[in-house]
Amino acid sequence: MAAPSPLLETRGLTMRFGGLVAVRGIDLALGSGEVLAVIGPNGAGKSTLFNLVSGLYRPSAGTVHLAGEDITGLPAHRIAARGIARTFQTSRLFGDLTVIDNVIIGMHARTRTGVLDALFRPRRARAELAAAAERAEALLGLVSPDLLARRHTLAGTLPQADRRRLELARALASGPRLIMLDEPSSGMDDRDTDALVEDIAMTMAERPGLSYIIIEHDMRLVAALPGQVVVIDYGEKIAEGPFAEIRRLPRVQEAYLGHKATHA
Ligand SMILES: Nc1ncnc2c1ncn2[C@@H]1O[C@H](COP(=O)(O)OP(=O)(O)O)[C@@H](O)[C@H]1O
Ligand SMILES: [Mg+2]
Repeated sequence: MAAPSPLLETRGLTMRFGGLVAVRGIDLALGSGEVLAVIGPNGAGKSTLFNLVSGLYRPSAGTVHLAGEDITGLPAHRIAARGIARTFQTSRLFGDLTVIDNVIIGMHARTRTGVLDALFRPRRARAELAAAAERAEALLGLVSPDLLARRHTLAGTLPQADRRRLELARALASGPRLIMLDEPSSGMDDRDTDALVEDIAMTMAERPGLSYIIIEHDMRLVAALPGQVVVIDYGEKIAEGPFAEIRRLPRVQEAYLGHKATHA
């Protein structure tokens, strides 16, 4: 019998923008329930890698498989429906919607009721909405009881740290198999970063089968994560291993610390 496929596998993933090769031949493999941290200097190609996996960009070369199925080049909404959720480096919440409505919107990849149902089967639509609100409250409580208490607040008025938590809750809302977080601690001070580490650890404990890929520049957060670390520089994977090993590699220190001063 063949070995079971990893949850996510990329092979030779490559993205060219004109003459620039932003991502070059990247191989990744991640199992169910595993956590992968992606580090590397600004402009290394980390966000582009996420855009390729989540279907925002179609790769110039290479493949993406989810649980053995080829999802290369599928549109983003179809990849989301197959169970990959993500957050963006800059917040993409709906600022003039409430906290809970932002979470409910995150569920749309998995809810069945469409516009026609709402018109012709209003009772089913209402029942589904009520169930969605209940699930959204449970998720908010999981990620942050404090956020649950403020579920009717407009998302736009939340402090940065709470927006990040809300994005995590919204990503969880689609019931994903894989969550990709792009620099979740960006714009946070040390105290908020520590709180975020706890929030992430708690959601990991509550959803043990869920896999994560986390792009992060804060080494304290990376150090706190379980699993492997992949280092990307100039679009290439230059190292992979547990954080304790990765941090010692001279090439990693050069690539990372050498660019640190230019980090915005
Ligand atoms: N849509 C795009 N068009 C052209 N160049 C891009 C585009 N997106 C990213 N790039 C370039 O690709 C490289 C990698 O960018 P990015 O993936 O955002 O890096 P990182 O997230 O590691 O900071 C950078 O040189 C960036 O300018
Ligand atoms: Mg980026």
